Amino acid sequence: MKKIIPFIVVVFLLIQCKKNIPETAQNNKITGFIADSAMVVSAREEASKIGVAIMQKGGNAFDAMIATELALAVAYPFAGNIGGGGFMVYRTSDGKTGALDYREKAPLAASKNMYLDENGNIIEGKSTLGAMAVGVPGTVDGLFKVHQKFGSLPFSELIQPSIDLANKGVVVTEKQAERLAFYKHFFGEVNDTIIVLDADWKAGDTIKYVKLAKTLERIRDFGRDGFYKGETAEMLVNYVQKLGGIITKKDLEIYEAKWRNAIEFTYKDLKIIAMSPPSSGGICNAQIFKAIEPFDIASFGHNSLKSVQLLTEAERRAYADRSYYLGDPDFVTIPIDTLISSTYIQKRMANFSWDKATPSSTLKHGNIVGFESDETTHYSIVDKYGNSISATTTLNGAYGSKVYVSEGGFFLNNEMDDFSSKPGIPNMFGLIGAEANSIAPEKRMLSSMTPTIVEKNNQFYMSVGSPGGSTIITSVLQTILNVYEFKMGMQDAVNAPRFHHQWLPDVVTFEPKGFDSLLVNQLQEKGYQIKQENSVILGKVDAILRLPNGKLEGGADYRGDDKAAGF
Ligand code: DON
Repeated sequence: MKKIIPFIVVVFLLIQCKKNIPETAQNNKITGFIADSAMVVSAREEASKIGVAIMQKGGNAFDAMIATELALAVAYPFAGNIGGGGFMVYRTSDGKTGALDYREKAPLAASKNMYLDENGNIIEGKSTLGAMAVGVPGTVDGLFKVHQKFGSLPFSELIQPSIDLANKGVVVTEKQAERLAFYKHFFGEVNDTIIVLDADWKAGDTIKYVKLAKTLERIRDFGRDGFYKGETAEMLVNYVQKLGGIITKKDLEIYEAKWRNAIEFTYKDLKIIAMSPPSSGGICNAQIFKAIEPFDIASFGHNSLKSVQLLTEAERRAYADRSYYLGDPDFVTIPIDTLISSTYIQKRMANFSWDKATPSSTLKHGNIVGFESDETTHYSIVDKYGNSISATTTLNGAYGSKVYVSEGGFFLNNEMDDFSSKPGIPNMFGLIGAEANSIAPEKRMLSSMTPTIVEKNNQFYMSVGSPGGSTIITSVLQTILNVYEFKMGMQDAVNAPRFHHQWLPDVVTFEPKGFDSLLVNQLQEKGYQIKQENSVILGKVDAILRLPNGKLEGGADYRGDDKAAGF
């Protein structure tokens, strides 16, 4: 009997502990696609399968990245692209990390006030719709940079599946048919010709992209010059200028993607490797993770009152700093070390109170002494050699500027809207910017894209990322916390309902489903303004988790047509 009593006590304590943890948070329940050693999770099954086929041929994660990115340009014209840009974070099998910036740049003829009228007011739509919104595309140069440094198979083998897919055609999904019906009238408004996506496409139809296949063949045959020079460049520049845009052949010739150091920081026993400026993702998430690190958020419970409060207040402070300090590091000096230091962040959190919300109107960016001065797609890849990549690529808004270079078969981005056209005036994601993100020739616009890799015990742990403009940062954050703190599997972590705050506007947005009215009422009582009715989905996360047995679990977001594939 003496022996049984402690046993009963332990069992009782365990039951009590379990009671405090929400149901979804027990033992990293695995509900996602499982693979032994290699996986791609992306926005379209076709693209995931093409990436996996490259790895089955012996290619590495970088080869698969090139193939997947190009396949998305064919299968997912909503965001996949050759006329846009993106970021990639990697971790090689021997633990080396880094990042590639293939973000668009402002054309040489761009100027600070190019979206303002003579009275200094924003000209509605000029930075979002049509030829003036287009930044100089970076994707194709980015892929060649990856290939030069890490590629193991010939580029022609990596691009061929996408050429074949474009010629064979891609089947329209339900969600794609809805999107096309919604955006169709913009295509007509912006372009002076009928484009292939103008037809009345229904789910189950097959769209062939013959012109795009030809452009991809030029890239296959002439390398980078197949896009930035010759026939494709000619088509692009002539069409943009015909529609009143300012991109020149010189802009295309001089574009270069850049290798950068990733932002690296620790959170408890994790090491997080995330995108550096000109993305704000890594710095913002470093700030948020560091701000919450002293708290035992797991004991608060997933999406509980205390968790939501803590994250919201950390996010408020990080986004306020984002708007003031962050921009293209080639143009502005960013006090990165201070911004992500625990000392600075604890000072920022000093006025946080559990009793009531800090109104954003009373909170500005932090004071750093001595400092001078929507639609994207993400994919994650792991190969059998132990390399991992996390890449987010975009045209910015849905189908970008809606300018479709018909002869070449591709859309152009509207990334210029990510600059701050006028200090204090929000862009299409409601983000406010300052001088650091003002427009200048050849400058890169600030981004929120947050491709991220997480290490645990010096081993690959997770690859995570998302579209969603300003909500990308908080979607990535919550997904990592869902696995690490709230003990969900990868798929459940991706599925879990999300919320978002970004300093201004001073509201906390909740996804339409998954948050009960009691929580909302409690937050409102503390002074939080909540948006839930008519709110949209937040992010669309595609992620990979390494399980304790070494296998991989995919998290493909149900919010889209996303799919994991692997072997
Ligand atoms: O770079 C950025 O932050 C934005 N251009 C991303 C746009 C985006 O995620 C749209 N997707 N929903």
